[in-house]
Amino acid sequence: MELKKKILCIGAGYVGGPTMAVIAKHCPEYQVTIVDINNERIAAWNSEELPVYEPGLEEIVRQQRGKNLFFSNDIETAIKDNDIIFVSVNTPTKAYGEGKGMAADLQYWEKTARQILNHAESSKIVIEKSTLPVKTALAMERILHSQNNGISFDVLSNPEFMAEGSAIDDLEKPDRVLIGCQETETGCQARDILVDIYAHWVPREKILTANIWSSELSKLVANAFLAQRISSVNAISALCEKTEADIAEVSRAVGLDSRIGSKFLNASVGFGGSCFKKDILNLVYLCRAYDLNEVADYWEGVVRINDYQKKRFVLNMLTSMFNTLAGKRIALFGFAFKADTGDTRESPAIDVARHLLGEMAEVVITDPQALDNVHLELGDLLDTGRIHPISDPYEAAKGCHALAIMTEWGLYKQLDYEKIFHSMVHPSFIFDGRNILDHNRLYEMGFNVYSIGKMPMTHFGTELL
Ligand code: NAD
Ligand code: UGA
Repeated sequence: MELKKKILCIGAGYVGGPTMAVIAKHCPEYQVTIVDINNERIAAWNSEELPVYEPGLEEIVRQQRGKNLFFSNDIETAIKDNDIIFVSVNTPTKAYGEGKGMAADLQYWEKTARQILNHAESSKIVIEKSTLPVKTALAMERILHSQNNGISFDVLSNPEFMAEGSAIDDLEKPDRVLIGCQETETGCQARDILVDIYAHWVPREKILTANIWSSELSKLVANAFLAQRISSVNAISALCEKTEADIAEVSRAVGLDSRIGSKFLNASVGFGGSCFKKDILNLVYLCRAYDLNEVADYWEGVVRINDYQKKRFVLNMLTSMFNTLAGKRIALFGFAFKADTGDTRESPAIDVARHLLGEMAEVVITDPQALDNVHLELGDLLDTGRIHPISDPYEAAKGCHALAIMTEWGLYKQLDYEKIFHSMVHPSFIFDGRNILDHNRLYEMGFNVYSIGKMPMTHFGTELL
């Protein structure tokens, strides 16, 4: 199979942008083009202010853009021009019809497949970069081969495992790259072309090949396992709060078992992000479709515990602040779903803000990267007049009864909490939803300190704990 040294990616989002930037950097002989239906997004990729905040991304884009990295909205020409096509369009949870709230919404994927089919004038390798239900490649092949026009299409699965906030590091030094193909002659040829692209910078032993269904399923399972660790540690955090055990000590002791490993065991207010919940629900839906209800129930528990953890966090605030939050001003430190990203999709801060507003609190929100998204995520509640986005954390805390750490931004570890304490209403409360602050020091300053999976430190008698 002799192909042009040209790569196209359809979908210029959190995955498409960074992955293609890294490919362009390491494969200078390839011309890499990224297209999107969202013109604003493409304009932003071509501007000084990229649409995605990721440490290290801007440097690479600045270096490669205009050389071998191009952002365009001319999808038709791009499809004609490129024979290697990654597809990284969004696959959100379906919000309508059969499987509503559980299954993956494949409309963007299918539209893309049809676009490829309509504009292709030569054979193509189509690479699933989006996270998809197992067996999607089969549906894609059926659509792509529906016209019988002599053009052949090989579909590969190449799921992406990067995490936001560390995307560039993850892409530069991946634990593994996974490529799944159909076991046909052309399928294997297509796979080898993709292996060669990654081999420009990824050691060969880290490039795994698999059958296409294993590859599709592995992505869902990897996310389910990761989320399961967090729900496991969060479930135990609730028990710690009742028993004077300390979740940090428990996580450490458990994680030092090399069979378990120490990463991803930080108790928190709950996991967020665009994928964990959606991918687990997708897995659950698939299991139910195959009548594997016990398996489905098992994984659904991971999402249930996550919802419980977020609810529990607000309930702790309510009970510790004398059972009423009405009219109280509460500052949420962090709106992004994790540090080092401006992404707020499924951020636990959204649910916490909604619960607090439901309790009639005044909610101040601060975040170094994600403040613009407050209108997007809480738009339906803006007319309560009780949502106050403020970028400076000191200003945000002023006059508040409580502050709650929602995102583990490094910045929040370095603030002058003495100054913050004196600007707040007393008694003052801190709810550390990420366990990142020095709780003893805060307590000594006069704060009543509540964290995840540890006994509260209060200046009241035990009857108010
Ligand atoms: P995103 O919403 O940021 O980007 C998707 C882009 O695709 C959007 O800009 C949208 O306009 C575009 N698009 C949709 N339909 C299109 C079409 N027909 N033609 C051209 N463009 C189209 O999503 P994302 O976060 O980049 O995720 C993409 C996929 O990657 C999802 O399946 C997700 O599960 C998976 N994934 C995401 C991450 C992550 O960290 N965000 C990591 C691994 C895998
Ligand atoms: C996650 C996976 O880590 C990636 O491998 C995967 O590619 C990606 O989903 C995806 O498919 O979208 P991401 O959601 O970007 O990446 O970020 P994570 O670092 O996994 O964090 C997810 C959430 O879990 C965040 O809210 C984070 O704060 C929380 N978390 C993480 C904890 O509460 N405790 C931990 O120990 C780790």
